Parts: sequence; C-alpha cells; structure tokens
Amino acid sequence: MEKQLTILGMAGSLRKGSYNRALLRAAGELMPEEARLEIFDIEGIPLFNQDLENILPERVKELKARIKSADAMLFATPEYNYSIPGVLKNAMDWASRPFGDNVLQGKPAAIMSASTGMLGGAKVQYQLRQSVVTLDMHPVNKPELMVNFAAQKFDESGKFTDEKGREVVKSLLKALIDWTRKLQG
Ligand code: FNR
Repeated sequence: MEKQLTILGMAGSLRKGSYNRALLRAAGELMPEEARLEIFDIEGIPLFNQDLENILPERVKELKARIKSADAMLFATPEYNYSIPGVLKNAMDWASRPFGDNVLQGKPAAIMSASTGMLGGAKVQYQLRQSVVTLDMHPVNKPELMVNFAAQKFDESGKFTDEKGREVVKSLLKALIDWTRKLQG
C-alpha cells in the first residue's frame, strides 16, 4: 500500500466562527483514507520583518517545520477587498524566507475559498494562484471550489451542509492526492 500523505491546511481567517476554518474542518472529515489533514493555525504569527528572517521567531520556525514535513498544502481563504487576507499573505511571506529556504517551493497545493458574497472569493483565488506560482508551488487547476453565500451553507455548529459543495471538496481532495503522487513519482 502507498504511504499515507500528510496535507497541511491553512485558513486565511483568524475569526473563531470563520467559514473558511469550518471548510478546512470539513475537508478533514471528507479526506480519503490515503491522506490525513493537519491544520496549522496561523494565529500568533508576527508581522513579517525582514530584519528577523535569519533569526526566526519560534512560531515561524514551527510554521516552516510543519510545511516542510507536509506532502502538500490546502488553503482555505476568504477574500478581503478583492485580495489575499494580510494574515495569510504574511504567513506565506515568512514561509518563503530567507532567500534559498522557501519551504513552500515544490509543494503541491489546492485552494478553496468561502465568502458571504455571490462570487465565493473568486478573485482571491486568482491572486493566491499568482503567489503560489511565484513561490514555485504546484497548484491543482480543477475543480475550483468557491463557496458563495457561505452564511447559508454552514450550520450553527460550523458544519458545511451544502451537499453539492461537499462533493466538490471530495473531488478537490482526490485531485490533490493524485497530483501529489504524480509529482512525487
Ligand atoms: C470581506 N468580505 C468580502 N467578501 C467578498 O466576497 N469579497 C471581498 O472583497 C470581501 N472583502 C472583505 C473585506 C474585509 C476586511 C472583511 C472582514 C470581509 C466578506 C467575507 O466574505 C466574509 O466576512 C467572510 O465571512 C470572511 O471569511 P471567514 O472569516 O468567515 O472565513
């Protein structure tokens, strides 16, 4: 049997009741047995300061170690003002530094977004893809999962209740696993 893959999930929202954090939890439940989802909570990551990139803060060291040991990344992010939330971009900036030690390099990645609006975070996905490409990660192209009108698709306990959406989560996870195995040869 092939080894179980470790996928590291990161949400781009620190909000306790975040739909994106809830979407990551749903991905953990829906993950096929051949992989497991670990979630790294980016709470507590300080603001990036290039003066510190050679003496990394402890929380950043933790972040980098967790990314390094993962086979693939799964991002779930809101769109803030048509773009990437600062907290997520900040964490990615730390992970990419210092020059020559970009731990995101070569990692397969899948992107999901949830938004209370009509477009489900379509714009942030394309912005995040730009960063993912320049970081030399390998994004899954399809399926695209944009959860729109999120307030209607999660119950009070934070369960993702949209049946069609849950099917797309499963397809995306399957695509990420297959893509990761392909890249790993
Ligand atoms: C938003 N929201 C939002 N939604 C969207 O579809 N496009 C956008 O550009 C923005 N911009 C935006 C900026 C800021 C600062 C906030 C706080 C919110 C609404 C957003 O989709 C909604 O708040 C989600 O619930 C945020 O995701 P979490 O925290 O639930 O994961």
